[in-house]
Amino acid sequence: MQTDLNGKTAFVTGAAKRIGRAICLALAGKGANIVFNYRRSAAEAESTKTDLESLGIRALALQGDLTDLEACDRMVAKASETFGSVDILVNNASDFPRTPIEELAADRAHFEKLFAAQVDIHMRAPLYLGIQLGLRMKANGWGRIVNITDRVTVRSQAYSNWILYLVTKYGLFGVSQTLAEELRPEVTVNSIAPGLVVPPPEFDPEAVERLREKIPLKRQVEPEEIAADVLHFVLSDAKTGAVLLTDGGAGTHTY
Ligand SMILES: NC(=O)c1ccc[n+]([C@@H]2O[C@H](COP(=O)([O-])OP(=O)(O)OC[C@H]3O[C@@H](n4cnc5c(N)ncnc54)[C@H](OP(=O)(O)O)[C@@H]3O)[C@@H](O)[C@H]2O)c1
Repeated sequence: MQTDLNGKTAFVTGAAKRIGRAICLALAGKGANIVFNYRRSAAEAESTKTDLESLGIRALALQGDLTDLEACDRMVAKASETFGSVDILVNNASDFPRTPIEELAADRAHFEKLFAAQVDIHMRAPLYLGIQLGLRMKANGWGRIVNITDRVTVRSQAYSNWILYLVTKYGLFGVSQTLAEELRPEVTVNSIAPGLVVPPPEFDPEAVERLREKIPLKRQVEPEEIAADVLHFVLSDAKTGAVLLTDGGAGTHTY
């Protein structure tokens, strides 16, 4: 079993801030060089890059929209050219739009646009990066892929008004399970299913407090706790197609 990641390179998507940033810092803390992607958060990306480099590893921040597969190709090429290989992929990037079914039903173009965007970010890009980088990892004899899904994919407790996010997170769970089969035994593919971690900034604080009260452990999960789950899978030789459900025990409640 690995105890450090010295000499390895990790690629983390959507990681300028919030949970993705914590994942980069945890992997860097074990010695991995980090390539991370951002779309709009350029200032946060710069500051995350500086913080990563202060840990004594090499870091590369790549701007790119993951819904554009040419951009994915460019980022994979740049990462490989800079570090020689990518050994670890964490599909973290996400988008969380409210999509009431009445609005989706009323306008086909609206449905098509929003559905395509959610499929692209939660399924198409993770699958594309997974096959591009996963096959290279397999050829190199070692690799790790971790997909960040959502507790709903494990708990089967969907909530209303976010149907496109939830449907495509179920899809990402499917991407994990099928890639685990395709890439074994050299590459492991696992997923992490978080509950409430960092609420979107636009959420009403009182509504967040009501959600928190419904969680059996009466607390939200810290980004560093999701990052610790990523390390657990990356360092383990014994798990593929597995899921870590980290949600404060929210199994008995919908929220
Ligand atoms: N936060 C929670 O409580 C929670 C709960 C359950 C599951 N999760 C899952 O945990 C992961 C991290 O959560 P989070 O809340 O930290 O994520 P987030 O803030 O919603 O998104 C992370 C980053 O994804 C990037 N992104 C979105 N669309 C993109 C695109 N088309 N191309 C490239 N990057 C794109 C954004 O980058 P820019 O800012 O650079 O545009 C954003 O900063 C996600 O997969 C999320 O679904 C989170």
